[in-house]
Amino acid sequence: SESATEITYTVTAQAGETAFLDGETTQTLGYNGSYLGPVLVVREGQEVHIKTENQLAEATSFHWHGVKLPSDMDGGPHHPVSPNETMQVDFTVKQEAATLWFHPHALGTTAKQVYAGLAGLIFVEDDNSDQLDLPKDYGVNDFPLIVQDRTFDADNQFDYEGTYNPDGTYGDTLLVNGTINPYVAVKNELIRLRLVNGSNARNYTFGLENAATFHQIASDGGFLEQPVTLTSVTLTPGERAEIIVDLSAYSEGETLKLMDGNATVLSLNITEETDVQKTLPATLNDIPEPTTEGAAVKQFTLSGMSFMVNINGNQFDMNRIDSEQRLNETVIWEVHNAQDMMGSMVHPFHIHGVQFQVLSRDGVEPPQNEQGWKDTVAVYPGETVRLAVTFSEKGVFMYHCHILEHEDNGMMAQVSVQ
Ligand code: C2O
Ligand code: CU
Ligand code: CU
Repeated sequence: SESATEITYTVTAQAGETAFLDGETTQTLGYNGSYLGPVLVVREGQEVHIKTENQLAEATSFHWHGVKLPSDMDGGPHHPVSPNETMQVDFTVKQEAATLWFHPHALGTTAKQVYAGLAGLIFVEDDNSDQLDLPKDYGVNDFPLIVQDRTFDADNQFDYEGTYNPDGTYGDTLLVNGTINPYVAVKNELIRLRLVNGSNARNYTFGLENAATFHQIASDGGFLEQPVTLTSVTLTPGERAEIIVDLSAYSEGETLKLMDGNATVLSLNITEETDVQKTLPATLNDIPEPTTEGAAVKQFTLSGMSFMVNINGNQFDMNRIDSEQRLNETVIWEVHNAQDMMGSMVHPFHIHGVQFQVLSRDGVEPPQNEQGWKDTVAVYPGETVRLAVTFSEKGVFMYHCHILEHEDNGMMAQVSVQ
């Protein structure tokens, strides 16, 4: 049911079979279907009621990544749903237009459940997104792209066990919205791509063929102040970016490819020409400067590799509160990726229940496309990233590396907000 003030959804985690390749189908998991899940469209101010249901043979949870909501609704490891059980999730949307997502988060099984196919999207709309003259026809000029990598075995099954890596399981086959070699038929107009890195561990550097420029209009938690012109955007696991590709210079029969390095992510096939051309709005959003004067600074050090990954020397313990913060208080989170002799990698650092601002990377102002709302930020080896973090909801929230194997291996901690 749907109204301006209230909306109801049912999200069921279930097992199914998906035909990715010719021959045998693949055993997969999905929400309300065999692979991935629906787009839940909600509005700022709306009361959202989601009946979650677990039809899997094992426990799962339903985590709303990027949603500002009370922690007892957030579906972290404290809120597993047993097989054949349901859990009611109710919250009011208290944030601006953004592309968010949802996925399982049960203790120790997040990586394999996401790999098997559990992930869906949440589009938040608001008055600003209504007013902005942007492409917004779903499947016509506005496409979400959940980008993932998978390995298939000889029987066409996902080979998670066989390719498991405690530092992140990578695949040799790119899937976009569950499709291999995807293409879309479009007009030669502005096309909006909502990029979601839904991989367990792989980083993507998206660009157009021939290094054509595009415009990033949104980061994880909402629109940027202005479109940012780029030739590439890197997303680590969990991060999102909305980009606009201008096809007005192309003609019917031509194709422009979205790439990750040398790999094709998506072909934009122009099958129709139009003379109605939009221009991008010059201003997209009003993002307040973070107020950090006199703010406390807290340090979070990411270190270790493989099964030894940790935050501030500790591995996740459900019964330990690692940090405390007051409601509506702004604290500077100084997140450091320690290089050690065991090696080092980029850790995508994610905090539940909040959208934060990136203050600096190694003391330097972040690039323009990181000056909007974020819930996940890449922290490179040896780097220190400063974040302005203000919680507007109470409870106990997770923060963790979004390489899902690192999360499962304990690179996760909890902050109590009171
Ligand atoms: Cu996208 Cu704690 O997760
Ligand atoms: Cu999350
Ligand atoms: Cu990590």
